Amino acid sequence: MAQSTAAPIAFGTDSAAPSSTPIATAQDGFSLHTHTAGELRTADVGTEVTLTGWVWRRRDHGGLIFCDLRDRSGVTQLTFDPEHSGGEAFRLAETMRPEWVIKVTGTVRERPEDMCNPKLPTGEVEVLVSSAEVLGRSQTPPFPIEDDIDTAEDTRLKYRYLDLRRPVMFQNLKVRNDFVFGARCALHDLGFVEVETPALGKSTPEGARDFIVPSRLSPGEFYALPQSPQLLKQLLMVAGVERYYSLAKCFRDEDLRADRQPEFTQIDLEMSFVTADDVMGAVEVMLARAFEAVGIEFPAPLRRIPYWEAMDRWGSDKPDTRFGMELVDVTDIFKGSGFKVFASAANAEGGCVKCLNAKGAGTWPRAQIDKLADVAKAFGAKGLAWIAFREDGSVNSPIVKFFSEAEMAALRERAGVEPGDLVMFAAADRLSACEILGGMRTHMADAMGIAREGHDFLWVVDFPLLKYDEHGKRYAANHHPFTQPFEDEVDLIDTDPLAVGSWTYDFVMDGHEAGGGGLRIHDPELQLRVLQRMGISEEVAREQFGFLLEALTYGAPPMGGFALGVDRVAMLCRGADSIRDVMAFPKTASGADVMLGAPAEVAPRQLADVGIRIDR
Ligand code: AMO
Ligand code: AMP
Repeated sequence: MAQSTAAPIAFGTDSAAPSSTPIATAQDGFSLHTHTAGELRTADVGTEVTLTGWVWRRRDHGGLIFCDLRDRSGVTQLTFDPEHSGGEAFRLAETMRPEWVIKVTGTVRERPEDMCNPKLPTGEVEVLVSSAEVLGRSQTPPFPIEDDIDTAEDTRLKYRYLDLRRPVMFQNLKVRNDFVFGARCALHDLGFVEVETPALGKSTPEGARDFIVPSRLSPGEFYALPQSPQLLKQLLMVAGVERYYSLAKCFRDEDLRADRQPEFTQIDLEMSFVTADDVMGAVEVMLARAFEAVGIEFPAPLRRIPYWEAMDRWGSDKPDTRFGMELVDVTDIFKGSGFKVFASAANAEGGCVKCLNAKGAGTWPRAQIDKLADVAKAFGAKGLAWIAFREDGSVNSPIVKFFSEAEMAALRERAGVEPGDLVMFAAADRLSACEILGGMRTHMADAMGIAREGHDFLWVVDFPLLKYDEHGKRYAANHHPFTQPFEDEVDLIDTDPLAVGSWTYDFVMDGHEAGGGGLRIHDPELQLRVLQRMGISEEVAREQFGFLLEALTYGAPPMGGFALGVDRVAMLCRGADSIRDVMAFPKTASGADVMLGAPAEVAPRQLADVGIRIDR
């Protein structure tokens, strides 16, 4: 659950824990009401008020009708009494239905003590209505406007304007707003200048597929929607802007997951004349202000964990360190093992044997343990060797028969084995072994229901510049191709490319990559050399990024920057299960907007305009 602020809970459910800055009250001078539905207190008793909002829950007690009036700020109980409300208002109360929009005038009065609702900030008062008016009628909504509903998400998305009426959803939007506002204030104070960059541009290689837009004025040619403003922000540094930021819409045509959308928002920034420390420092100032605005403590300066330490210990470049279960290297123990799978990995160049001790899972039945091999395969494993240490001191495992007593003793000691433990192994190259067990670590934590309290913030730094892309049989950028290698390792680009480190930093929150950045290459020669190492010829490089390579020849300052995934962070702040819950109008897993009916076919005329024929 999201850490909430000290502010009162507007709707009486934890999930609606509000953001810290209050909604503007009606003292703002709007004319249709005197107060909002969330603000009346006992101090207002005796005041005549006019309220507007939606009919929420209505209770007909024969002689009296109670109705909860809801707006985004909260809820107020209205009482319609035929004696006080006069005939007309009471008759209206008899006919009104949930989700009608009404306007009422009446007097605030104290509720009898046994009728108070301590869960509501307005729970000690009610408004005795004297006149009422219907501003808008509603059909019966397809699902209840309540926080806890189990309505299919497609239905919620089809009627998103109703879904967003649910208090928890408005709070999601509000927290996101407060976070971004905090960040903007900090960036403004730090001297950043907001500059907009175009959505119609040219492909930027962030690693995903582009969304492309046909051009009517140049038939057969296409714009690409930006995967990020990466190259343009670098050009802004060449232009002398020095400190740029924007709330950038990014578009990536990739397979969607719970924390991924095809269209998402970054707080994108770039700075000139800086070191990596400077950028991380500025980002921490921004994050501290943004998290403070949503009531989450941010422990700056954050821990910095080098990439390989993160991989070796947690098996992930975005580790969740709120629980232990760290990976253990046992390569040396099995160098001479009779179990060939381990011995050959332990002796191979760059190979290793690692294990993970899931405490408690050693009592799992054999059939359940056997299923873990399939999980491991999804993370790239060839198999999953394991040893279950039973509570009675016995050992169950398909592989221990190959182990010597000395190997078992060394393993027990290294992995801190106790009865009830399940030890899983990966024998592979270092990166694969880490990734497999990192995947298993998260899987086991979920399967065993290991609690993850509070929030976990850290930097992972010093990523290798390159990785080897087995599929494409070539080197690829770990971050993106414009990342600055460590100056003293530049020459390894030709001799030992995977050993080159880079000025990079990812901001990790609760085991998610929430942001990332680095220093950039500002020397055109080095930029070409790195591109060539990735198999991009000078000719292709000039064709794709000629504008950048040329700009770098006109006096480019040293520069670095960062981009924060706003949607992801908002999801984590709110403890939401899906990134979709913090976006007003998200796409489904198949990339559709079921409310708008997008994507959709277009008229033949529109296709003709851009010179496109559909071939199906
Ligand atoms: P990167 O590609 O790491 O860096 O993106 C930065 C952050 O954006 C978020 N993010 C996403 N959020 C939702 N849906 C997606 N499909 C998605 N993809 C990325 C993540 C991620 O950490 N130009 C560089 C930044 C830089 O070097 O300055 C970039 O875009 O939270
Ligand atoms: P095998 O000798 O191939 O029957 O494997 C014995 C056990 O080791 C099985 O449980 C396999 O799943 C497991 N195993 C095979 N290859 C690996 C590997 N590279 N890393 C870890 N376990 C493995």
